Amino acid sequence: MTADGPVLALSGISKRYGAVQALSDVSLEVYPGEVVALVGDNGAGKSTLIKVIAGVGPADAGEIRWQGRPVGVSKPADAVALGIATVYQDLALCDNLDVVANLFLGREETTSGIVLDEIAMEKKSRELLASLSVRLPSVRVPVAGLSGGQRQSVAISRSLLGEPKIVLLDEPTAALGVAQTAEVLDLVERLKHRGLGVILISHNLADVKAVADRVVVLRLGRNAGQFDPDKTSQEEIVQAITGALDNAVSRRKARAEGAADDVDEAEGEA
Ligand SMILES: Nc1ncnc2c1ncn2[C@@H]1O[C@H](COP(=O)(O)OP(=O)(O)O)[C@@H](O)[C@H]1O
Ligand SMILES: [Mg+2]
Repeated sequence: MTADGPVLALSGISKRYGAVQALSDVSLEVYPGEVVALVGDNGAGKSTLIKVIAGVGPADAGEIRWQGRPVGVSKPADAVALGIATVYQDLALCDNLDVVANLFLGREETTSGIVLDEIAMEKKSRELLASLSVRLPSVRVPVAGLSGGQRQSVAISRSLLGEPKIVLLDEPTAALGVAQTAEVLDLVERLKHRGLGVILISHNLADVKAVADRVVVLRLGRNAGQFDPDKTSQEEIVQAITGALDNAVSRRKARAEGAADDVDEAEGEA
């Protein structure tokens, strides 16, 4: 790959669920150290696209390139092996376990392969959280006792233990208040500054404008524009999400075609 190429590039991605064409010919690129916001109305295909990348719901068609090379991502382990970490909307934390246990769930460290090395895991937990400026009352409290923002921060921190190159966040702030949302968006900024690519799904365009380097709009399972948030108003993004732009363009096109009807008829339809 070229040094400044995308770490992940999807093209021509299509995915059908029975009668529902959830994605049609979708393209998406993510560069190292870039936050891409994926936005669109309910049902636009955002989660489906995340699941394609995460290997949870492989695409029916299309190509996935990783650091310039075509790769197959047909199961979650494929995505993890490449360096793709996913934090889902309904985050899978174990409420009754403490922060350390949640961070190391499924990748526990042991002394001589038998006894859990609690001291090592606690030390690594503190270091990881400190490096991300995530502040918690204690790493030894059950996560049930944490705020929504703190819980989301634990889930995102956990995803970094596998040392991924990109992190997929499906609506990480959906259930959060203003202060907690800011906490999570700060964490997204820190992922970016570590050189990670981030794909962030969010409904909140103010949040999107605050952290995204690029905004990719999906509408009815198709690409519906991409924007530089610094140069684009929220209204323009909303228009792309709702299709108001398409409608304006198609009206203009219809008028133009109306004017050119005589020519079309003279030439005949090929
Ligand atoms: N497991 C599934 N089975 C059937 N249809 C699904 C499934 N998942 C998603 N869909 C449909 O695919 C479309 C895209 O859904 P989704 O990707 O969840 O949208 P978004 O995350 O943008 O709200 C919707 O029409 C949705 O109903
Ligand atoms: Mg969704």
